[in-house]
Amino acid sequence: MLLRKNLVLLMLMLIIGHAAYSLPRLRQPFNQDWKFFLGDDAAAKSPGFNDADWRRLTLPHDWSIEGKFDEKNPAKPEGGGLPTGIAWYRKAFTLPVSMLKKDVFIEFDGVYKNSEVWINGHLLGKRPYGYISFHYELTKYLKAGKNVVAVRVDNSAQPDSRWYSGSGIYRNVWLTATSKVAIDHWGTFLSTPSVSKTKAEVNLNIQIRNQNGFKGSVRVQSQVYDAQGKLVSSASTDRVLLTEKLTGLTQVVNINNPKLWSVDRPDLYKVITRIFINKMVCDSYETPLGIRYFNFDAAKGFSLNGEYMKILGVCLHHDLGALGAAINIRAMERQLEILKNMGCNAIRTAHNPPAPELLDLCDKMGFLVMDEAFDMWAKKKNKQDYHLNWEEWHVRDLQDMVKRDRNHPSVILWSIGNEIREQFDSTGLAMTKELVKLVKDLDTTRPVLSALTETDAKKNFIYQADALDMYGLNYNHKLYKDFAKNYPGQKLLATETTSSLDTRGFYEMPSDSIRRWPKDGKTKFTGGNAEFAASSYDNVSAYWGSTHEETWKEAKKYDHVSGLFVWTGFDYLGEPLPYPWPARSSYFGIADLAGFPKDAYYMYQSEWTSKPVLHVFPHWNWTPGKTVDVWAYYNNADEVELFLNGKSLGTRSKQGDDLHVVWKVQYEPGTLKAVSRKNGRTVLVKEIHTAGKPAKIELVADRRAIAADGSDLSFVTVSILDDEGNLVPGADNLVKFKLEGGGRIAGVDNGFQASLEPFKADYRKAYRGLCLAIVQAGNKAGKLKLTAVSAGLTSAVVEISVKKID
Ligand code: GAL
Repeated sequence: MLLRKNLVLLMLMLIIGHAAYSLPRLRQPFNQDWKFFLGDDAAAKSPGFNDADWRRLTLPHDWSIEGKFDEKNPAKPEGGGLPTGIAWYRKAFTLPVSMLKKDVFIEFDGVYKNSEVWINGHLLGKRPYGYISFHYELTKYLKAGKNVVAVRVDNSAQPDSRWYSGSGIYRNVWLTATSKVAIDHWGTFLSTPSVSKTKAEVNLNIQIRNQNGFKGSVRVQSQVYDAQGKLVSSASTDRVLLTEKLTGLTQVVNINNPKLWSVDRPDLYKVITRIFINKMVCDSYETPLGIRYFNFDAAKGFSLNGEYMKILGVCLHHDLGALGAAINIRAMERQLEILKNMGCNAIRTAHNPPAPELLDLCDKMGFLVMDEAFDMWAKKKNKQDYHLNWEEWHVRDLQDMVKRDRNHPSVILWSIGNEIREQFDSTGLAMTKELVKLVKDLDTTRPVLSALTETDAKKNFIYQADALDMYGLNYNHKLYKDFAKNYPGQKLLATETTSSLDTRGFYEMPSDSIRRWPKDGKTKFTGGNAEFAASSYDNVSAYWGSTHEETWKEAKKYDHVSGLFVWTGFDYLGEPLPYPWPARSSYFGIADLAGFPKDAYYMYQSEWTSKPVLHVFPHWNWTPGKTVDVWAYYNNADEVELFLNGKSLGTRSKQGDDLHVVWKVQYEPGTLKAVSRKNGRTVLVKEIHTAGKPAKIELVADRRAIAADGSDLSFVTVSILDDEGNLVPGADNLVKFKLEGGGRIAGVDNGFQASLEPFKADYRKAYRGLCLAIVQAGNKAGKLKLTAVSAGLTSAVVEISVKKID
């Protein structure tokens, strides 16, 4: 609807506008009515090609997630075990004649990978890197009447990734029309060289495009608005002579008593820059603005707006679980909400530039971002990976990432690479210098680092290049202690930590013996269990990593550890270490692939937030007589007392650097009750009951009202309960879904890492009591009704209203 309205508006403006210079820019989603063909057909680039029998779809789209899991798929289980291949997308569109007077661009936020784009049969270009945003100018190829864009996507050469990449036009596409004199693409750069409580100075660098020889001068005006839309400051430059195809100018805007952007109060402004020819506005361009300052100190760590704080971050890959790589703003927002609620304040975009909308969300929700460019340079990690494109593309890709992302207040760090192999030989020296310079030429306001693993400083050539602003250390948490001695004067950030392995709801005892899976780099992994699960007592980790508690205890101890990024916030598709097939997604998440928190989530919540936490686990369905380890994570209290069927099992308090308390309990069915107390007064009470047989389904939607925009989502948690309403911890019932009232089921999941059921389905087995249905709005307002049924269980219904959008 919005798109149609925009198009009508665009057409009207074009018809009544005064030709080439009068139209302020128009940028609209270009996602609807694409045709799709999974396969290769060179003829499809021609505008006259008949695509009538191709599938019609709306972008963003990931064809891999629609496929079947198969161990033999060329991406291998490490890549998620889903099909890849070659596919084509085509879109026909009609523009009014007056459009020919404008500059028109098509922008792709990301295509995985090797995209080639044609407009009306003319090749616009090729872009190998699957995570980079790019655009092409269409102007000279456009005609009145029908135009056709064709895109070939080639993700056939495998394996090309250490994790699931997805395949296709998996991020948004935009169509932008500007006047012939306009601000260039990514053509503004904001910085805040001086910020205090009473005053902020904003520097705005503006690049004006004038490709068609307009002769004369323009007026450039920038106005700063606060979040309420109030004009707070402005600057104007009267006579900017456009002599070149690209003319740069700088404006300085002062803001009194600025509201500073922080993780707790992410106050935002925006800058609207207008270009005037005489009195006529010929462009209007918006740049987000967050006013903040930060510093890394070798001894005291990170400070934001003058206050010391730790960066409490997680690494995130880009997939959205059952939705695959196809971006969805609500799905990303939900992930960030879950993390915020845990006390997380930072994201590392592992190991590539993210969707631009993720950065918008981080700006709005208050997350610090370490924006990462690459997982490899010229030396490969997989046969078919980006190392093949390195020589030709790395300069352009790195520059484009920085240009695109440098106005986001959330972005505080640039990472030029993760565990790059050039650490280990002297080629790393010159390459590091080159990459750091590329970044610094575009932005000197943020430190540049690389996530390093070679810990012998003398043998680490990226470090030896002496070009990085700070030290990014992956794993090796025992080195935090003597860091200052070994790396004098360096600032330390734990760019990647932990790699704990956990499966939600699965427990192996004894809980205090730690398993390293695999145990070293030489021995083949033969351990594990028949369920293909990893214990959620936080007692399993990869050998190069450590458990959540082992890591956090060290990171917490030292001020000079400015922060950490736990590997990972959520399980992700691919890298199912240590298990073989049918494991196909990772075990590293603090929450599972469906977004359900594992127990360690509450350890972080008890440490990283000030809200009262008391989390007691495991479930209470065991064989009578078994000794069960009962753990509690808690905060804001001095002690926790545990009762079994009314009988006290004793009071425990965390001692020293403990992060949990534990009781060894002789199991008997009934009720386990924990009470946390401070100064003798009850803070929280938690009960766990032995569950009976599965009896009914419960549906809980995270949002009962969503927008009729064809994209918004409601995540519905499906619980298998007994008669009394207790979650049945072992339940794996098959649940079938029916959705009425329009909309669709966008995906289903249960968070189990070794399930080979499809994500695009209207059924799912529960795993350890839970599964998830993701309901997506259509474009019509109304009511959606989701019904869940399962043999022998009382079914459940949830209604979600779909509201009209303006
Ligand atoms: C790290 C790597 C990550 C992931 C992780 C698994 O070394 O940077 O991408 O592979 O190991 O533990």
